[in-house]
Amino acid sequence: MTTHPFPSVPGIAYGADYNPEQWPEEVWAEDMRLMREAGVNIVNVGIFSWALLEPSEGTYDFSRMDRILGLLHDNGIAADLATPTAAPPAWFYRAHPEALPVDKDGRRLSYGSRQTFCPSSHSYREAALRITGALAERYADHPAVAMWHIHNEYGCHTNACYCDTSAAAFRAWLRTKYADDLAALNDAWGTTFWSQWYYDWDEILPPRATAAGPNPSNLLDWRRFCSDELLSLYKAERDVVREATPVTPVTTNFMAITDALDYWRWAPELDVVSNDHYAMSTDPEAEIEIALSSDLMRSLAGGPWFLMEHSTGAVNWQTVNRAKKSGELRRNALAHVAHGADGIAFFQWRASKAGAEQWHSAMVPHAGTDSQIWRDVVRLGADLKALAEVRGSTGTAEVAITWDWNARWALEFPAQPNSQLRYVDLVRAWYEPLWRAGVAVDFVRPDADLSPYRLVLVPGLYLVDDEGAANLAGFAERGGTLAVGFHSGAVDRNCHVRLGGYPGAFREALGISSDEHFPLQPGDTVALRGGGTSSLWSERVRLEGAEAVTWYTDGPLTDVPAVTRNTYGEGTAWYLATHPDPATLTSCLTALCTEAGVEPVRTAPEGVEVVRRRSPSADYLFLIDHGGHGAAVPVAEDAVELLTGKATPGSVTLAPGEIAVVRQPRHG
Ligand code: GAL
Repeated sequence: MTTHPFPSVPGIAYGADYNPEQWPEEVWAEDMRLMREAGVNIVNVGIFSWALLEPSEGTYDFSRMDRILGLLHDNGIAADLATPTAAPPAWFYRAHPEALPVDKDGRRLSYGSRQTFCPSSHSYREAALRITGALAERYADHPAVAMWHIHNEYGCHTNACYCDTSAAAFRAWLRTKYADDLAALNDAWGTTFWSQWYYDWDEILPPRATAAGPNPSNLLDWRRFCSDELLSLYKAERDVVREATPVTPVTTNFMAITDALDYWRWAPELDVVSNDHYAMSTDPEAEIEIALSSDLMRSLAGGPWFLMEHSTGAVNWQTVNRAKKSGELRRNALAHVAHGADGIAFFQWRASKAGAEQWHSAMVPHAGTDSQIWRDVVRLGADLKALAEVRGSTGTAEVAITWDWNARWALEFPAQPNSQLRYVDLVRAWYEPLWRAGVAVDFVRPDADLSPYRLVLVPGLYLVDDEGAANLAGFAERGGTLAVGFHSGAVDRNCHVRLGGYPGAFREALGISSDEHFPLQPGDTVALRGGGTSSLWSERVRLEGAEAVTWYTDGPLTDVPAVTRNTYGEGTAWYLATHPDPATLTSCLTALCTEAGVEPVRTAPEGVEVVRRRSPSADYLFLIDHGGHGAAVPVAEDAVELLTGKATPGSVTLAPGEIAVVRQPRHG
């Protein structure tokens, strides 16, 4: 049994970003009382405290932080202590104006907000490591500190800088990658095109604004570099902390499904994978996106993870800053637990009265404790306490969906055959029918060990390297069911087209070949045999061993296969050469699950999300009624509902909008 990533916080951790420096100290005592009332057992402190902790370069004032940590400890509340490096103070920028980032158009940004720094700036790195070192030295052995929180949301607001220092850092990164071989870079970037050949490393620039379109291979390395450059800052701070306190776990908060960073490269560097998730109020089924990003986090973590931030209600950076509907706070929070979170926290504890986020919700709202939010917060604390035994249990997916930031970046570069393609939309379209059917999903890298899965889905994997392509094809060959989405495998690791027919990397496994793409105009559809339609994409597929599952019945590709199925080795490989409407896609995925022998966790009444976590001794069935109709769901005879503590032999009844978490012992 592997150890838990944050061993010293018991049960399901519960808390928030805690920013007491925004309040007079009289308020702190009330904070402690209310935290105890709500069952809060960990808070994230000091995230934006740099200006107060280091009033001038090299001069520290830890008195306030000493008092905060002391108070937390006296009240039995753990601290996830942050390094405050996401918001350098004004004095730093006045001394080091070169640390301000420069955008693509050559404008240097100003300070006065947060997260405004050049990731390659030497002065920023030095200052960040200095304050990190001072904090680590002072609080290494503090009994309140259960976890270290490096920085805040790397890549948020600024994930790239185009200044000369960044240019030099980019060149250094390239020289390492290409082993000082400029000819290899010219080859990888295809620089014979448009006279871009480089004779000297110093000629290479970040992809600043130019008159015509950028070079995609150059852009791809730039995105990789930007992710790695921030990762190197994270690692530098983490190492300073680890040196002072080797056993305390270290995290930094991810930003859900952001495209800023390649989290597959980041996750192994974290002791605790943690995520910030804000449901979009424009999404009528935000619960699907919550499930998707939570599954991604569980997959990145390879086990339990920590929801470091979400909201109790209004999110000030969204266009309409709406409140959560009745029961939504609870459904959202427990959905994260269902998908593997062992810690649930909010931004933030007490709603600010001043500052850029004064209209953001919090656990203690502006109205105080005589409020719906506070009542919900207290109830959630009790729920999480009742779920303590779920801690450490894991997912049970037999279906994997590939997720790859390189493919995502490249798919969304300019000048694609269809510039409407959005990676997350393609993945979500395939994920949705599985979510509705209660089929558990993991996300995997293309080169992951696929042996735990029966079905592997590959939507939108435009770019795949040779190892990833071989791994996916090998999965089918060894008996798995593989389904590849259109335009996947089109380019190699350098973003070069794979020649000889589309989709290059998977042609052989799929038993087909296409000679031309026929992308669709916005809003256009083509008819499919069987009554469905499809949009976005079509291509002239020729069967080379595969059979047609369905084909177009109108348009320029009438009678051409739109979905194909090939027997490949011991398994099968399907190709969805178009973007079917939701009902048709659901039928395809149902057929794929049946072929692969994948069962839903349990057939869910419509509107009820069903998720399973498993421990050695029990299955925990989370039933969440998003539809608001209520339901009776069959469960085992020896089942117990944990939120009420009641035995529910044979069936559990969900009131509209409610949640049940059912323990079903595993026998034998
Ligand atoms: C996050 C950030 C928090 C807060 C929150 C508001 O991106 O980490 O500090 O700004 O958004 O939604």
